Amino acid sequence: KIRIAILASGTGSNAEALMKKAQSLNSVEVTFVLSDKVGAGVLEKALNLSVRHFVVTKQSDRREHEQRVLNLLREYRIDWVFLAGYMRLLSLEFLQTFNGWHGGNSQVVNIHPSLLPAYPGVDSIRRAFEDGVEESGVTLHLVDEGMDTGPQLMQSRLPLEAGESLADWSVRFHKLEHQTYTQFLELVALGQIPTSPFEET
Ligand code: GAR
Repeated sequence: KIRIAILASGTGSNAEALMKKAQSLNSVEVTFVLSDKVGAGVLEKALNLSVRHFVVTKQSDRREHEQRVLNLLREYRIDWVFLAGYMRLLSLEFLQTFNGWHGGNSQVVNIHPSLLPAYPGVDSIRRAFEDGVEESGVTLHLVDEGMDTGPQLMQSRLPLEAGESLADWSVRFHKLEHQTYTQFLELVALGQIPTSPFEET
């Protein structure tokens, strides 16, 4: 099986969608969920789905923190890291070490609720809403050391409907994120990840 680790800091709705989808597929598994936050909702979701889960809290030294995460990724022979609301940046050193185990191929992906490069960072849905945009969307991308940067793999648009509230739009956002991420997981499971989007343009 292709072995996936999900890194998440918060509620974990994306992680939950991925864990459920993986449990319906033969060729992939979510080997573990890792959170940097004690008590994060994602941990309970993993528990409920009988998925192994770890907490690696913030260390005074970022390298020390990343080393602990890398140790788990190596111990469990993880093939892909899926970030799902993981609110920490990964260093170039971390990415080079992990990707180096996979022949240098970038194997860390992230989902983000905007049409990147617009609205990186936190509160992207609300900021787009408050700017009065007509549409935003969801981006799945390979992770580099920047914040929500890196080569894009998939993008789905989400228009704001007339009179739609931020709350309603957010619900549709999260559904679209879950669809996009699970679709990507299926492609990984089928070995159908196209290689061309992986090239930096
Ligand atoms: C998701 O909307 C995800 O795209 C976003 O955090 C949320 C986590 O929700 N990530 C970022 O903003 C990354 N910059 P979840 O815990 O319910 O999956």
